[in-house]
Amino acid sequence: MSSLVIVGAQWGDEGKGKITDYLASRSDVVARYQGGNNAGHTVEVGKEKYKLNLIPSGILHADKLCIIGNGVVLDPEAFLNEIKMLQDRGVSTSNLKISDRTHVIFPYHKKIDELSELQRGSNDIGTTKKGIGPAYMDKTERTGIRICDLMKKDVFAQKLKVNLESKNRYLKEIFGFEGYSYQELLEKYLDYAEQIRPYVADTSVLVYDAIKANKKVLFEGAQGTLLDLDFGTYPYVTSSHPGSGGVGTGVGIGPSMINKVIGVVKAYTTRVGKGPFPSELLDETGDYIREKGFEFGTVTGRPRRCGWFDAVIVRYATRINGLTGIALTKLDTLADMKTVKICTGYKLNGEIIREFPASIEDLAGCEPVYEEFEGWGDISGVTEYNKLPTSVIRYIERIEELCGVKAAIISVGPRRDQTIVIDEF
Ligand code: GDP
Ligand code: IMO
Ligand code: MG
Repeated sequence: MSSLVIVGAQWGDEGKGKITDYLASRSDVVARYQGGNNAGHTVEVGKEKYKLNLIPSGILHADKLCIIGNGVVLDPEAFLNEIKMLQDRGVSTSNLKISDRTHVIFPYHKKIDELSELQRGSNDIGTTKKGIGPAYMDKTERTGIRICDLMKKDVFAQKLKVNLESKNRYLKEIFGFEGYSYQELLEKYLDYAEQIRPYVADTSVLVYDAIKANKKVLFEGAQGTLLDLDFGTYPYVTSSHPGSGGVGTGVGIGPSMINKVIGVVKAYTTRVGKGPFPSELLDETGDYIREKGFEFGTVTGRPRRCGWFDAVIVRYATRINGLTGIALTKLDTLADMKTVKICTGYKLNGEIIREFPASIEDLAGCEPVYEEFEGWGDISGVTEYNKLPTSVIRYIERIEELCGVKAAIISVGPRRDQTIVIDEF
């Protein structure tokens, strides 16, 4: 039995897509378990660059079974556009399955997301406006519409009618927005339903059977630990559970079926959207990292906020996710800096704290405590761990020590061949 979870250990965009694509070559199944098309996973294969939002990064390997689990929220329009993009580029999508329990995103979810953000004014969360939060709200309120409903014309027509009446009333009364035509939405979604039908399956069975048959299964997280609804910087979080705890409920397997958990960790820290960020660099060093690392959002194009590596965060992620190893990415981006820093703890009200606080007011008051390290030159062509400069190795070893977890993979560039594997899957 062999299964591995790939989670973001920071605020997302750590390089989960690249690591998933790399490990997919050694696996049989790749499944997404949460989030939706708020995710943006960039995978580089030779000169080709693929931006995946909903579809697992394993799709670039034709022989791998790819699964969109029940814990995902799926926007049919975005899904079909992504399928078309892949097919136009010669990538087969015939090995893709969607859970019949997956919840569906509707235009009213996106509109409510957009208008709620506007209403929050300067207290906005900075969401991707993809309707993710409102779709998960319907799921927990027990009014959501699932793929299995969409597959049954009469059931769907009835559920949409009830939902749309209440959503239109809400949109009109709270935001003064006119709402959507039932007939138009019904026809549009019935058309989507037929295009989606070939992909629909009871995916929990597929994952279970694969694990039982000793196949290798990867679970690809979206977002990151600090965007987790429970353990992130609430309320500046997403509405799902990106951590390893989300896998069980997000694909329908038990915890005893998970062997390893790899946290993808960027060699520095970035964040998109609002919320406190103790090691943020609001100076030219932050600008340098942003430009050198192309730190601009895949989904919204927003510049990512950049800061030094924060060991408090990654130690926290190690505990919350039960990490068995980390994949440390983008060490090459920090090349050519005279010195680099690691935040080892926070100072709050004159005291040093080492655990990540629950209260964002406390987090906003935290001052980072730093250790400084000697920098390194170009490492983007290094293919063996012991050929890395000693200054990089010192940096990696200090991260391992501070976070209580060993590096399993070192990534020195976006391509597959820029990956150093220490612990094989
Ligand atoms: P994800 O959301 O976690 O999959 O990460 P993103 O794809 O949003 O952002 C990571 C970006 O860094 C992508 O453009 C990757 O191609 C790129 N990338 C991944 N690993 C490395 C690395 O080790 N070095 C460099 N320079 N780029 C990397
Ligand atoms: P990947 O998978 C980085 C952020 C948004 C916002 C917050 C809530 O590429 O790492 P949402 O639209 O989810 O309600 O927005 O979460 N966010 C991400 N930040 N990477 C992501 O995904 C993200 N997905 C959502 O910027 O702050
Ligand atoms: Mg991303």
